[in-house]
Amino acid sequence: MDSRTMLLSVSGVLVLISLACGESPAIQLILNNKGLQYGKHIGAGWIQDKLELVTLPDISGEVGVGIFGTVSYTLTGITIKKCDFPEPSAEFYQDAPGFKTSTMGLSVAIEGGWRTRYGIIRDHGSFQMALFNVDVTSVVNLGKDPDGHLMVTSGGCAARVGDINIHLQGGASWIIQPFLDHFKGHIRGALEDKICPAVEEYILNLEYHLQAMNVSFNVNQDLTFDLPLSGSPIIDASSLNLGLKGEFYSTKSPTEPPFKAQPFTMPEQPSYMLLMGLSEFTLNSASYGYYSAGLLKAIINDSMIPPRSPVHLNTSSMGQFIPQLPKLFPDLLMNLQVYARELPLFAFLPGVVKLGFQGGIKAFAIQANGTQTPLFKLNVDSNFSSEVWIADGKLKGSIKMNNFTLKLAASEVGPFKTEKLEKLGGMVASLAVAKLNGKLGEGVVLPRMKHAQLVNTALKVEQGFVAVFSDAQVLLTDRGFN
Ligand SMILES: *[C@@H]1O[C@H](CO)[C@@H](O)[C@H](O)[C@H]1NC(C)=O
Ligand SMILES: *[C@@H]1O[C@H](CO)[C@@H](O)[C@H](O)[C@H]1NC(C)=O
Ligand SMILES: *[C@@H]1O[C@H](CO)[C@@H](O)[C@H](O)[C@H]1NC(C)=O
Ligand SMILES: *[C@@H]1O[C@H](CO)[C@@H](O)[C@H](O)[C@H]1NC(C)=O
Ligand SMILES: *[C@@H]1O[C@H](CO)[C@@H](O)[C@H](O)[C@H]1NC(C)=O
Ligand SMILES: *[C@@H]1O[C@H](CO)[C@@H](O)[C@H](O)[C@H]1NC(C)=O
Repeated sequence: MDSRTMLLSVSGVLVLISLACGESPAIQLILNNKGLQYGKHIGAGWIQDKLELVTLPDISGEVGVGIFGTVSYTLTGITIKKCDFPEPSAEFYQDAPGFKTSTMGLSVAIEGGWRTRYGIIRDHGSFQMALFNVDVTSVVNLGKDPDGHLMVTSGGCAARVGDINIHLQGGASWIIQPFLDHFKGHIRGALEDKICPAVEEYILNLEYHLQAMNVSFNVNQDLTFDLPLSGSPIIDASSLNLGLKGEFYSTKSPTEPPFKAQPFTMPEQPSYMLLMGLSEFTLNSASYGYYSAGLLKAIINDSMIPPRSPVHLNTSSMGQFIPQLPKLFPDLLMNLQVYARELPLFAFLPGVVKLGFQGGIKAFAIQANGTQTPLFKLNVDSNFSSEVWIADGKLKGSIKMNNFTLKLAASEVGPFKTEKLEKLGGMVASLAVAKLNGKLGEGVVLPRMKHAQLVNTALKVEQGFVAVFSDAQVLLTDRGFN
């Protein structure tokens, strides 16, 4: 191999690696075998209920009856009367990522009407039929389409009807009854041929719904949330792992942040049905979305200060901190512009979430004619650490301010000492934290769907990501499953 071919093949490999790796998912959803088995159990109950409401398509064909020639027959209005649906098996299928389900020994009782035509002789009546030892095996493959939708395709289906038993009534059924064995083989084949197309149509219908799902959501007027699959589903013998992009963007200025999602490995927890991993990247992309759109700022004026407060936002009141202020600008109301100087970043560390906030405060005097005269600028830096946990089906937390520093960054009113202001700022920040802790203590109810909820949920903050472990409970009150 000459050096050029070698270079080409090395760069080819590199391109392949970068294509294969792509972006690291910021969110990982894992379905464990326990979840698959629970889902299968719920699904089987649902299918059993649905099957009993199904009307099957007509079956027709021609059957040779020895020397008499052929009889055309049609079975119409076929309905399922009873269905004994044994618990199917379901497993992760690794050959082509997906699931494999098998139902063995299904038996079904159906009934309907029959019509026959033999030459010019027509006849009709009703029938009862029992199907025994019906086996259906289906493989569903999972994939990812270019837009990041989850894709399901049929990866194979096999159906076998073990035996059938037919009883005809009405018409001249006693004439046909002796030839029933000829019909049975034919009808059995016709039924077998119908099962897999029905399964495949069901998968196609599911795929149609998946294609229609959005992979981007508007969170509020400022943020959108992108949730496409970041790679193909990964399946091993005991779990399915879906990697999702999990990135917030500013609606107005959707740009990429100056940091990337770091890969992380979820701990194995086979005793839970579902696991979810959320990278600190997701939270920081939201922070970046707000910051880059210039939304991390607020204006504080005196009407927001409680009337009983000993300090007010006016130049006289602020004289106790900045002695020269009331002399330079007597009796004027003030405004404070509070903003983030730097992008606030969250760091997930084992057991704790840290946030560094580097903020600024610009103070203005409001002149009688409405003009805002700049007075001074402060830098306030503060670090927070927070614990989060799940209790009573709610996400709860507590936050602690670790440090608060306040420094004069610029002044239009000359220098002044900031110790007293720093103390005041620290007190105000502590009050805000205490109020926030009240809210965090009440907690946020975990997301829940109409027919499903998370139960037995736990949360653990790890290095760079937070892991949520949970079981699910499907609440179907309609018909006989729990
Ligand atoms: C998908 O997104 C589009 C545009 O953002 C929106 O109009 C539509 O309602 C969304 N559909 C669903 C199912 O959320
Ligand atoms: C303070 O700000 C609020 C909200 O921005 C505004 O409604 C109010 O009129 C302001 N008060 C003063 C005294 O400027
Ligand atoms: C400034 O605040 C003080 C209370 O600290 C209050 O007594 C005074 O009336 C306020 N002045 C103006 C101009 O609002
Ligand atoms: C508003 O009043 C201040 C102080 O009296 C003055 O310096 C400024 O020029 C005035 N601005 C306007 C637009 O009238
Ligand atoms: C806040 O934390 C960062 C690291 O997370 C550190 O560099 C900084 O000095 C801390 N600031 C204060 C005021 O403690
Ligand atoms: C806060 O930070 C300053 C400067 O970084 C440091 O001198 C001080 O000890 C810190 N205070 C606490 C309570 O950590």
